[in-house]
Amino acid sequence: MTRHFLRDDDLSPAEQARVLELAADLKAAPYDALHHPGPLAGPRTVAMIFDKPTLRTQASFAAGIAELGGHPMLVDGTLAGIGVRESVEDVARVLGRQASVIVWRTFAQDHLETMAAHAGVPVVNALTDDFHPCQLLADLLTVREHKGELAGLTVAFVGDGACNMGNSWLLAGATAGMHVRVSSPEGYAPGPDMVEAAAVIAAKTRGSVALEPDPVAAVTGADVLVTDTWVSMGKEAEAGARGEVFAAYRLGVELVAGAKPDAIVMHCLPAYRGKEIDAAVIDGPQSVVWDEAENRRHAQKAVLTWLMEPRDE
Ligand code: NVA
Repeated sequence: MTRHFLRDDDLSPAEQARVLELAADLKAAPYDALHHPGPLAGPRTVAMIFDKPTLRTQASFAAGIAELGGHPMLVDGTLAGIGVRESVEDVARVLGRQASVIVWRTFAQDHLETMAAHAGVPVVNALTDDFHPCQLLADLLTVREHKGELAGLTVAFVGDGACNMGNSWLLAGATAGMHVRVSSPEGYAPGPDMVEAAAVIAAKTRGSVALEPDPVAAVTGADVLVTDTWVSMGKEAEAGARGEVFAAYRLGVELVAGAKPDAIVMHCLPAYRGKEIDAAVIDGPQSVVWDEAENRRHAQKAVLTWLMEPRDE
């Protein structure tokens, strides 16, 4: 059966732990696959399509695929006109005949699901409006490096909880057995379906999920603080209004002081200093954002390796 990585809960707790372990191994020995036949040796081609802007995702996938002995093929989403010039189904059938894996950053999660249903090869979510699961694997790898075990840690996500990063932290954090608090202004909390899905996972992993609109209460005693832009890609027209709504949710020095003294601060980037995070925080001693950015490569290599493993059926 072809497996895909379309949302964070596509990995069971055991699978997530295994992928993170593999990511740590690949970080320790990044070029091993070039010396032994790696999962993408051949080289096998991985198609990458970006319908939204990208820096980290394109760079880390391209570098990681090369380190696995594979070939990154950039498909220009604008030229291809996916869903406009050709249906998602037909693009999936065509790319599935050329590439061993398809990595796609797009808007609608259901388009990604359609791609997965028709490609015949694994499909990876490189960010949609709803989820950013590759970022979460990098983030969890980063937390592991700085804190050891993930299970039992408390993470506070402060900001736009209704965006892809809020949803992904709920699902991936719960899968890892963490206590996930999401703090957002009214109207910007994750949807009840997402909270419920995460709560079901957390009940099995002994983690928990909670919505806490008060940012001060949310960060109190937390081990990990996370924020993200208040204006996700595609929401640019709302930038002005959002700046006012989110003003109390900025990760500033005072808010960070409410967390544990050794709390780490995370941001998937790009960051807007003075908006969702102060320069003193993102450029300060508790920030681990550059580790996160680097870990995208190691985590994605692990996902690609896991997806390429032979499976029965
Ligand atoms: N929530 C952000 C994440 C950027 C990596 C966005 O979708 O723009």
